[in-house]
Amino acid sequence: MSRPTSRLLVAIDGPAASGKGTLARRVAGHFGLPHLDTGLLYRAVGWLAGHRGLDPAAAAAGLAMADLAEPGLRGDEAGQAASKVAAIPEVRANLLKFQKDFAAQASGAVLDGRDIGTVICPEAPVKLFVTASLEARADRRYRELRERGVETIRPRVLAEMAERDRRDSERAAAPMKAAPDAYLLDTSDMDADAAFAAAVAFIERKGFRPPGP
Ligand code: C5P
Repeated sequence: MSRPTSRLLVAIDGPAASGKGTLARRVAGHFGLPHLDTGLLYRAVGWLAGHRGLDPAAAAAGLAMADLAEPGLRGDEAGQAASKVAAIPEVRANLLKFQKDFAAQASGAVLDGRDIGTVICPEAPVKLFVTASLEARADRRYRELRERGVETIRPRVLAEMAERDRRDSERAAAPMKAAPDAYLLDTSDMDADAAFAAAVAFIERKGFRPPGP
């Protein structure tokens, strides 16, 4: 197979706890590319709106790297807050340039989120849509929360996840959906290693290879 002339830009989308974040980090490491977790941008905006009382669109316009370091951003409360501000078109518009600039780096890049293959990087030569059943994702998140010592019950985790899925896929502005040319990776019965192997095989079928020694 001839080598593609384009740089490697990988767009990874999918719902919460599908495994897309872990996959994006591993793919980026394997191919030597910078990685942007775009969910963190929406989480930071939700956090600034909820904890500092900022207008969400203004928070998105003035977002600084330091805002992304807030430890509370990884939690489920921040995820719910993110999905609320993410439905506001001005918030999305104000985060667009940062994401597009990241994707335009000469090195290539890996971005993960909900609208990377459809809105941010529709030109990406590699698009993956990572999903898993609601049950499998709720089980993963429940185990993860318990391991972190968070007191919760599985039905609550499942209900919150279903609510976030619905909000993310039914909103008018850049709803979560697979791009028509995305490779669908259902990780319901796969561990992280199997998902990584499937993604690398797909990327290599497109003619891309990791950087040599
Ligand atoms: O991926 P993560 O769970 O960190 O994303 C948090 C929320 O941010 C999502 O539920 C979604 O509403 C929003 N988001 C988005 N578009 C992206 C990334 C995240 O709307 N590209």
